[in-house]
Amino acid sequence: MLRIAIATVNASIFTILFTAVFLINALLPSSACAADSEPPLQQLSASEKAAWLLPPVSYPEQNPFSAQKQELGRKLFFDPRLSGNPSRTCATCHHPGLGWADGMARAMGNQQGLGRHTPSLINIAYVHAFFWDGRASSLEDAVSQDMLSPGMFSGETARSIVVRIAAISAYRKAFSESFASEGVTFERIAAVLATFVRSIVSNPSPFDAWLEGDSGAITESAKRGFALFRGKAHCIQCHSGPAFTDSSFHNTGINSVDPGHYEISGKDKDRNTFKTPGLRDIALTPPYMHNGSKKTLVDIIDFYDRGGDTLGGGNELRPLHLSLEEKQDLLAFLLSLSGDAPETAIPALPLALLP
Ligand code: HEC
Ligand code: HEC
Repeated sequence: MLRIAIATVNASIFTILFTAVFLINALLPSSACAADSEPPLQQLSASEKAAWLLPPVSYPEQNPFSAQKQELGRKLFFDPRLSGNPSRTCATCHHPGLGWADGMARAMGNQQGLGRHTPSLINIAYVHAFFWDGRASSLEDAVSQDMLSPGMFSGETARSIVVRIAAISAYRKAFSESFASEGVTFERIAAVLATFVRSIVSNPSPFDAWLEGDSGAITESAKRGFALFRGKAHCIQCHSGPAFTDSSFHNTGINSVDPGHYEISGKDKDRNTFKTPGLRDIALTPPYMHNGSKKTLVDIIDFYDRGGDTLGGGNELRPLHLSLEEKQDLLAFLLSLSGDAPETAIPALPLALLP
């Protein structure tokens, strides 16, 4: 009898409490917490989801796609005769087996380490600014600069590269066929390399399967992570669109003396700003950041959570105060963005016959 009475009292206290909480919630203006809470993901419409799918690659008018150019570019990408150094090709640093990067914190030049981390080339076709500092504005330009950079190749000139490649008759023939006129030129070499590099596109990821309607393709945790990415964690501010980059420059507070985009623009606001990298296949390309200073995605999430490393140093972040569960959700989401690495067949290279 007594026990029933206590239970009844408990139940009514519970009811009163519940009603009070409900009323307080109902009376609070809904905007009070709207800033940090995104609508649940299930409410994203099919067309909102489709906006995150990668569109087909578009090719510039000055350098339209052709299968011949892509194939020729692939050969040159793997051919050490391009660099004049038997142990150095584009793939030395942008290796398909290492997420089209080199797995090292900073790139290894001919004689010495270079100051920056080798970026992955995956989905570079969707980007509009090149290099960490944005010193190239087209892929053709970026590829040309890489070929002439003494740290990357052997201090080559455009002429020495052309002479070596034009000495190989199969290449002379392939260039004539690709451009419908005779001649191996530095611009054409850059054009075919750029055409090949544009073909390095991420494969569909579990995230894409979910976007296309397979609700079980990613975990509930990853779905919450995507909501955090777009909401409370503000990642979308810079990692926007299907390739997860705004092709713009930001200071995220990495401890580094590198001036970044400031060196190109000369504007004070660009000090220590770097190009936002895309995030598809991100699990395949550690370490991270322009100086390779973050080894894992967990390090990255902790970094953003504390508002960057240069506290008070004018970076664009602020601390996020994520709970452990929220960090796990964000990680699950980032992992869902990786599919099978884009592979390529290592091409057979033409033999150079001595005259
Ligand atoms: C010694 C290693 C090395 C070699 C060899 C090399 N690269 Fe790079 N590549 C880098 C590094 C490091 C960067 C970033 C440099 C920077 O931002 O200042 C880069 C940047 C790039 C970019 C711009 C990527 C972006 O995110 O903006 C492209 C495209 C590129 N390389 C293509 C090539 C091609 C094609 C070749 C062969 C002709 C090549 N690279 C050879 C290390 C290398
Ligand atoms: C203010 C713009 C901005 C915001 C907000 C931002 N990022 Fe970044 N992100 C960048 C830039 C710029 C870099 C490169 C910084 C560098 O190398 O110094 C970067 C680098 C990264 C990298 C490493 C990529 C690579 O290939 O090295 C990851 C992963 C990443 N961000 C994830 C996130 C996540 C997750 C969030 C949200 C918690 C986020 N970012 C918020 C701009 C931003």
